[in-house]
Amino acid sequence: MRGAARALACLRRGLAAAAAVQPPAAQGALQRLQLQRGFSSAGGRAGGAAAGAAAGRAQWLAAVAVGLSAGLGVQLYSGQQPAECKAADKKEGGSSKDRLIDKEEVAKHRTKETGIWVTYKDGVYDVTKFVEQHPGGTARIMLAAGGAIDPFWAMYQQHNTDQVRGILEEHRIGRLKGGQTAQVTDPYANEPARHPALIVRSQKPMNSETPKELLAGSLLTPNDLFYVRNHLPVPHIKPEEYRLKIEGEGLRSMELTLHDLQTKFRRHSITATLQCTGNRRNDFNERARPVKGLEWDGGSISTAVWTGVRLRDVLKAAGLEDDDANVNHIQFEGYDVDMEKTCYGASIEVEKAMDPHGDVLLAFEMNGAPLPADHGFPVRVVVPGVAGCRSVKWLAKIVASDEESHSFWQRRDYKAFSPSTDWDNVDWDAAPSIQNMPVTSHICEPARGAVVDDDEVTVKGYAWSGGGQGIIRVDVSADGGKTWHDAQLQKVPQKR
Ligand code: MTE
Repeated sequence: MRGAARALACLRRGLAAAAAVQPPAAQGALQRLQLQRGFSSAGGRAGGAAAGAAAGRAQWLAAVAVGLSAGLGVQLYSGQQPAECKAADKKEGGSSKDRLIDKEEVAKHRTKETGIWVTYKDGVYDVTKFVEQHPGGTARIMLAAGGAIDPFWAMYQQHNTDQVRGILEEHRIGRLKGGQTAQVTDPYANEPARHPALIVRSQKPMNSETPKELLAGSLLTPNDLFYVRNHLPVPHIKPEEYRLKIEGEGLRSMELTLHDLQTKFRRHSITATLQCTGNRRNDFNERARPVKGLEWDGGSISTAVWTGVRLRDVLKAAGLEDDDANVNHIQFEGYDVDMEKTCYGASIEVEKAMDPHGDVLLAFEMNGAPLPADHGFPVRVVVPGVAGCRSVKWLAKIVASDEESHSFWQRRDYKAFSPSTDWDNVDWDAAPSIQNMPVTSHICEPARGAVVDDDEVTVKGYAWSGGGQGIIRVDVSADGGKTWHDAQLQKVPQKR
C-alpha cells in the first residue's frame, strides 16, 4: 500500500475471566478500573509498519515535547524565571513601574547593547534578560523590539493569556507617555464560519480537532469536520485572480491560473490522511511531563479524497529534470501572511516531490467539492505520509532549490530533540526537519476516563503510518499489556 493508510480498529472483548470470578461489588469496581487503565493500543507493533517505527516514534515523541509554538507568547511562557525578572526591573528602572517613558525612548532600545524594550497597551517592558537567556527562541520577540507587542499578540492570540501577560508584567519598567499608541485591528475579522462540532483548541488562529466519535465511525472525514490547523488568518482568494508562481533552479519560471491547473494537466484523486505533528500531545501532559503547545488530543488527524494534479507533472512542465543535481528541495509558500508580510512556508525533499510513482498533489478538490477556505482554497499541496505542516495551503509559490525553505515553520519548529533539550539550549540547526511520520494509533471509544459497566466492550480507534507504509495489524490490550487482541481492521481503499 502506498501513500497514506489508515485503519479503524474494532475489538469485541468478553470479560470472561472477570465474570467467572463473579466479583462482589468492590472487586467489580476494581475490575472496571483496571480495564480503563489497562487500555492501550499497539499500532507500533504492527509488523512491517513497525519496522523503523520505534526509532521514528521516539523522534516524533521528542518533537511533540519540543512543541509547535510560534510566536512571542510561548517564548515568554517558556522563560518564566521570576528571580531574573525582578533583577531586570531593578537594573533598568531603579524607579517605580509607573515611570513615564515616551515612544521615542522606547524606540532607542532595540539591541542587547541598548537594552531591548517593548510596549504592550500602555506598559513599557525591558525584556533584555529574557532574550539573553533564550538565544534560540527569540527571533520573533526581536521583531517587536523598540515598539509595540500588541500587533503580534493580535496575530498570535493563543499566546495572549493571563499567564503570559503575568510574566510580561514582571518585566515592567514604566508607562507609555500619552498612553497606548498602537492601533490594532483584528487580523481574524474575516474568518470563515466553522462547524460547531469541531473541538476548538485555539480560536485565533483557528485550530480545532475532529470529534473522535467521527474518526472511529467513518473512514473519510467530512470537509466541515476535518481538523483545522492554521498558523495565520485565512486568506480570501478569488478563484479568477488566483496565480501560482513556479521558479527556481533548473526550471523555467511559470505562472499558472486555477484554470490552467484544472485543464492543462491530468487529474488524479488520492485518499490521504493528514495529521498534525502535535496530534496526541496531551498524552505527554498526562503521562510524561507537561509540554508547551496547543493541547491536541487525538483528533488532529483526518482523511479525505483529494483531487488535483501531480506536483511532479507541474514541475516537469516547468522543465525540471529528474536528475538535476542542484535541486534538493521543493519549497512552498502560502498566501497567508503575518503583519510583517511573512508567509507560511515549508519544503519537502525533491525525491518525494518528483517520485515517478509518487502521490504529492496540488489539490483543488476535497471529497468531491472545491477546497473549503480553511483547507486551502483554491489550491493546496497534499503530501501523503509526511507531517501535515508540509502540505501547504493557499499555495502561492513553488520554488526548486538546493536548500530547504527558510520559513520559521521549516527551520525553527517541527523538529525533534532529546528530552533534555529545552527552549533555552536548543540548537535548531542541529536537527533535520520532520518529514515522514511514524506509525501512530489511538483509542477513540470508549472515551478516556469513561466507566464501562458491561462485561463486554467494543473498542474503536484508528491507526495510521506515514512514509507510505500501511497498517497491517493493530493489537489492543485490556490488561496493561499482558495480553493482546488483534483488532478487526477496516482499511482505507487505495488504488494505483
Ligand atoms: N499551510 C498554510 N499556508 N498555512 C498554515 O498555517 N498549516 C499546516 C499545513 N499547511 C498551514 C499550512 C499544518 S501545521 C497542518 S497540520 C496542515 O496544514 C493542516 O491542514 P488542515 O487545516 O487542512 O487540516
